Amino acid sequence: MTAPSLEIVNLSVAFGSDRARVQAVDNAGFRVAPGESFGIIGESGSGKSTILRAISGLNDEYDGSVLIDGRAAPRPRNKAFFKNVQMVFQDPYSSLHPRRMIRATLMEPLEIHRFDRRDERIAQALSDVGLAPEFAYRYPHQLSGGQRQRVAVARALLLEPRIMLLDEPTSALDVSVQAGVLNLLNTLRLSRGLTYVMVSHDLRVIAHMCSRIAVMTQGRIVEELSADDLRSQNAEQDYTRELITASRVALAAE
Ligand SMILES: Nc1ncnc2c1ncn2[C@@H]1O[C@H](COP(=O)(O)OP(=O)(O)OP(=O)(O)O)[C@@H](O)[C@H]1O
Ligand SMILES: [Mg+2]
Repeated sequence: MTAPSLEIVNLSVAFGSDRARVQAVDNAGFRVAPGESFGIIGESGSGKSTILRAISGLNDEYDGSVLIDGRAAPRPRNKAFFKNVQMVFQDPYSSLHPRRMIRATLMEPLEIHRFDRRDERIAQALSDVGLAPEFAYRYPHQLSGGQRQRVAVARALLLEPRIMLLDEPTSALDVSVQAGVLNLLNTLRLSRGLTYVMVSHDLRVIAHMCSRIAVMTQGRIVEELSADDLRSQNAEQDYTRELITASRVALAAE
């Protein structure tokens, strides 16, 4: 089964009104092919998370279109959409319920989507992300940051989605732990043919994880470039060159 394509067309998102109005995303567009890993970079506040939140339907107050396999995603998003598209957030603390055992957190989507063999699936999902089955009986505060993020990835993968939206999935983690989660995400993508859209402020992470990258500033996508262009610092726009210069040390180490 091939993953569906994902496309956004003329996507615009504004918050507030009058003087408080912020044009968080301004006519953004890109297309991600099945099985591709697409990155979004740009300064803080440039609109990266807002794009992912619009795609996932967490915010469905947007103009323009979100297309899955050429068809508009339903508004509001329905169960079938979430079966296909899952999101992993930047901060695994806020995405895991603090008073809920990991098992209950993982059980919930399986119940909603009426999956069978639930305990077996939970054990498998934990094993897929490198955690022992006993982790199901812990609470979030009894896990390290990296382990929590693995649980968040496990939960996203439980429904066997085809598209994963990853918002800074490792930026809360220590560099050594970061590499483990990134490699895990890469392996899962290749073995399952998943499609990723990944946001990171770390150009090295993006160059490692993504084949094509959109560059955002002030709500607009100003340039799209390949990972090779990024690594060889071959950019058209001044803004992209500034971003690259700011992280040249990191890229050189890649
Ligand atoms: N719910 C909201 N209400 C009002 N303004 C918002 C809201 N969410 C985001 N914004 C504004 O929209 C703009 C884009 O925010 P967004 O979170 O998409 O940035 P980002 O590129 O993800 O930044 P970062 O790298 O810091 O995560 C910012 O100016 C932000 O203040
Ligand atoms: Mg963000």
